[in-house]
Amino acid sequence: MKELITDLSIIKDDHQKEEQCGVQVSKDEYKSDQKKLYIESYGCQMNFSDSEIVASILKENGFGTTSTYEDADVVFLNTCSIREKAETTVRNRLNHYNAIKKKRPEMVIGVLGCMAERLKSKLLEEEKVVDMVVGPDAYRDLPNLVGQAFDGQKAVNTFLSKEETYADIAPVRLNSNGITAFISIMRGCDNMCSFCVVPFTRGRERSRDPHSIVKEAQDLYQKGYKEVTLLGQNVDSYKWSAEENNKKTLEKKEINSEQIVSFANLLEMVAEVSPQLRVRFSTSHPKDITDEVLYAMKKHDNICKNIHLPAQSGNSRVLELMNRTYDRAWYINRVDAVRNILGDTCGISSDMIAGFCSETEEEHQDTLTLMDYVQYDFSFMFFYSERPGTLAAKQYEDDIPLEVKKKRLSEIITKQKEISLKRNKMFIGKTCEVLVEGYSKKSKDHLQGRISSNHVIVFPKEQYQPGEYVKVRVEDCTSATLTGVPV
Ligand code: SAH
Ligand code: SF4
Ligand code: F3S
Repeated sequence: MKELITDLSIIKDDHQKEEQCGVQVSKDEYKSDQKKLYIESYGCQMNFSDSEIVASILKENGFGTTSTYEDADVVFLNTCSIREKAETTVRNRLNHYNAIKKKRPEMVIGVLGCMAERLKSKLLEEEKVVDMVVGPDAYRDLPNLVGQAFDGQKAVNTFLSKEETYADIAPVRLNSNGITAFISIMRGCDNMCSFCVVPFTRGRERSRDPHSIVKEAQDLYQKGYKEVTLLGQNVDSYKWSAEENNKKTLEKKEINSEQIVSFANLLEMVAEVSPQLRVRFSTSHPKDITDEVLYAMKKHDNICKNIHLPAQSGNSRVLELMNRTYDRAWYINRVDAVRNILGDTCGISSDMIAGFCSETEEEHQDTLTLMDYVQYDFSFMFFYSERPGTLAAKQYEDDIPLEVKKKRLSEIITKQKEISLKRNKMFIGKTCEVLVEGYSKKSKDHLQGRISSNHVIVFPKEQYQPGEYVKVRVEDCTSATLTGVPV
């Protein structure tokens, strides 16, 4: 079986880190009597997780996944619209597939995900090559749509749902190392940050039935997985009540009709699957993260001590323009709560946007001083990219020249590198539990994994294997990686 191909060179951007601009490709898992489905996924972890739902739905309909598009019957691009660059990448890939389709006209090409939702049937008109356009809430309709496309019709479904959570679908793990997996706990976003396209491409926020989440975690644990990451655009606003969400589950005893399951409750329910199953989650919104969540993290050793808490900016006026609904003081209060409850070794990471509309040099400096204050372990850093239809595009002028945006971004990146190195150095001499995820990229004699705070660590293999927990003493580091020895 082929390994996951992670070819970042296709869309490499000087400034961006791999996770949010990566591409994932389906692996070979088909039988001789099956049709072949190739899926190339862009964007965030939620999109990668959706591709696993897509593979599962089509598996039920006679498709197996392949890692090579050359012989695929169906090619899907699961797309991202978050920045202009993300869409340009997809357009380039569509040109590439267009050339292939000229030689193999029977190959069906579909655009899924956020760009499909944003552009809808415009994609069919603009890009001659596309046979199918399917939005993120319409994947149950895929077998039908693929059938239409095989019959030579253009197939479109970009209906956004208020209920769909794909709760009952067991994802086909496409890119898995068999050790770590994603579980989507909610869909959509109700926040309307002024720069962001997600509320338009993903629709209203809705939470998934907690039983189905816990069951998915249990199944993964039984299959040998050691870590799950609970995914949502704003996990802290997870909220599920049997009454509101799904009458059927009233039959189940664990949750009575009155009870509301909060994110803190859910986190504990998943943590209780097994102390040997690590739990992570992403993304936390600074306006919603509660002390209750922090105490749930403190109570369970297997809930990893790492919080992705995107600030976006360190300046209160800019935060207001961004419609983030918190200011600098509120954000600092939440960081102080993390430090008070979980201590100094808890990892904190962020997303930052440089050069938002009307941002002054002084306001940009506020972002740098916030970084100094928080001491982030890691950040995803971007310059502002105006997205059509968003509040910012309608209300504010995108008036910061590109060179200024880039200069500010590079200052943010330089600052983050310094802080990451400093934070990593803090771990030298400490002994940390590592979940081994695989071999080091550079050497088969070394293993690689992460410690609770999400720092990557490399150490000599000795007798250890991927999937094991190993106690490692940290000996050295760069700004990106820790190195150590098993003890
Ligand atoms: N739900 C998450 C973010 C999801 S999008 C949250 O609220 O934090 C991931 C990141 O992309 C955002 O945090 C933001 O930093 C960045 N981003 C979103 N829209 C952008 C835009 N128009 N230009 C530049 N970066 C953007
Ligand atoms: Fe976008 Fe804001 Fe929702 Fe995050 S919380 S997905 S940035 S609208
Ligand atoms: Fe991109 Fe959609 Fe995720 S716009 S970041 S794939 S929710």
